This record gives sequence, structure tokens and C-alpha cells, in this order.
Amino acid sequence: MDSGPMTLIRSTEHFATWRSSILDQTISFVPTMGALHSGHVALIEYAKSQSDIVVVSVFVNALQFGDSVDFDKYPRTLETDYETSIAAGASIVFAPSALDMFPTDYKKYLTPSAIADKFEGASRPGHFAGVVTVVNRLFEIVTPQKAIFGAKDYQQIAVIRAMARELHPTIEILQVDTIRDLDGLALSSRNARLSQSARLKAKTIPDALFALRSEFDSGQTNCAVLKQTAFDVLKNETNISIEYLEVVDRQTLEELSVVELHSSVVLFAGIIDGIRLIDNVEL
Ligand code: PAF
Repeated sequence: MDSGPMTLIRSTEHFATWRSSILDQTISFVPTMGALHSGHVALIEYAKSQSDIVVVSVFVNALQFGDSVDFDKYPRTLETDYETSIAAGASIVFAPSALDMFPTDYKKYLTPSAIADKFEGASRPGHFAGVVTVVNRLFEIVTPQKAIFGAKDYQQIAVIRAMARELHPTIEILQVDTIRDLDGLALSSRNARLSQSARLKAKTIPDALFALRSEFDSGQTNCAVLKQTAFDVLKNETNISIEYLEVVDRQTLEELSVVELHSSVVLFAGIIDGIRLIDNVEL
């Protein structure tokens, strides 16, 4: 891997040296766990349109995995992630070691706000504590003006916004629309783990969400009716087990009985042949 003139930085110490040399420039930051796909490329390209410099971090954060097997199985593809990031417009790829990020005496383990309690937080205990802890650590190291996240992880953005409001009020948290495959499936590093048949079935998820949205576009605002439309589509694919499907307020993630125009979102999670997928559509 060509690390060029310090474009791949592997330690917090080197990052601090580099950071202090560009104090007059604005930074947009794209935190990732690697295994980059076109969704990440869209984040990096957007970041590039926002600032002088784009920093991409690649760090597979053990703290946010409930299951160590899942953590071990997570793809590590730093070489291609580096190349993808630079090609998309990143100036720096920051890929620290676990011990550098979280030395044994590390103390700032955070508790997320209550917005983390339901949906993903309920299904994956400890997940958001791991996310806010690592993002806080990365924000302290990178000290960007802006940080960019994908809308696919809708609740994650809400949880990070709450953390940043408290601890990093000067960092602007920006959201980029979900990038989808041709059949509508939201891009995710997990899609690579779907078998060929599961991948075909997974299309039912966006089909259901889009059916709901098109019924809303035709004037239906009753959430129970809208959800039933999505359930009816999902019923066609018996291999999908639904974890949640809810219409909620975009800010508070409180469940709604009637859609609030431009401030509602549908959140979905389900398991298909053992792989857990999430998706959402704004209404
Ligand atoms: O969305 C992700 O890839 C991760 O949760 C993040 C924000 C990089 C923190 O590890």
C-alpha cells in the first residue's frame, strides 16, 4: 500500500502532528469501519464538497459489537478502503490500532442518550454506547468542523447528534441519503454476507417501504394503515423475520399514529437467512 506523503495515518500521535500542520483548513470527517462500498463513496464525495480536507477513519470498533464472532467476521480490507477513499476525494485515511484508540487506562466510556434505548438499542444492547464512545474519541482526535453519516443508520445519527450537542457543539453533523442497489436494497457492508437467494429476497424490504411511501404520497396518513401495507408486501417473503417496522418522529424517534409531514420516518429491521438488515424511508 502506498502511504504517500502521510496520506495513510496509523497512529493517534502521527495524526496529531498532521492535524497541527493544517490548522487553517476546514475538515469534513467520515468515520467508517471499512469494507467501503458506494454508500461510503457518496459520503466522502459529499464531504469533499463541504470542506478543504476530508479525513476518513477506518476502525472496526469492538465496543459496538455485542457478539465477538460478529466482530471477528467483520471484513478487514484496509488496502482497498484506502484506495477507495483517496479516489473519492479523501486527503487522509486514519486507521489506528485498537490499543491506540482505547489504551488500557482509557476512561471516557460514554452512555448514549435515551434515544438509543429502543429499536437498534433494544435489539443490540450496548451497541450505541460503543458507537458514541468511539465517535467521541474520533471527534477529539480529528477535531473536524463537519462529520458526515449515512441516513441508512437513522437512529445512529440521532444518537450521535445528541452526543455531539453535549460534547462537541461546534461539529456540524450532516446526513447523506441512503445509496441503493438497482433493485432498491440499501447498500450495507452486511449485504456481502447474504447468500444469492437471500440477496434476491432482500429486495422485498425496499419494496415494502416504497409501497408504504407511495400510499402516503397518495394521501394516507394513518400509520396503522400504512404499516399494514408494508406488512402485506413483507408477507410475500416468508424468510424475512421482522424485528420492527414503525413510523416515528425524525427527531425524537417517538412512535406516531398519524404521519407528520416532513418530520416522520419509517424505521425497519429484519433478519433474512440469519443476516440482520435495517432500512428506512422518510415521509
Ligand atoms: O456507521 C458506522 O460505520 C459505525 O457505527 C461508526 C459510525 C463508524 C462508528 O464505529
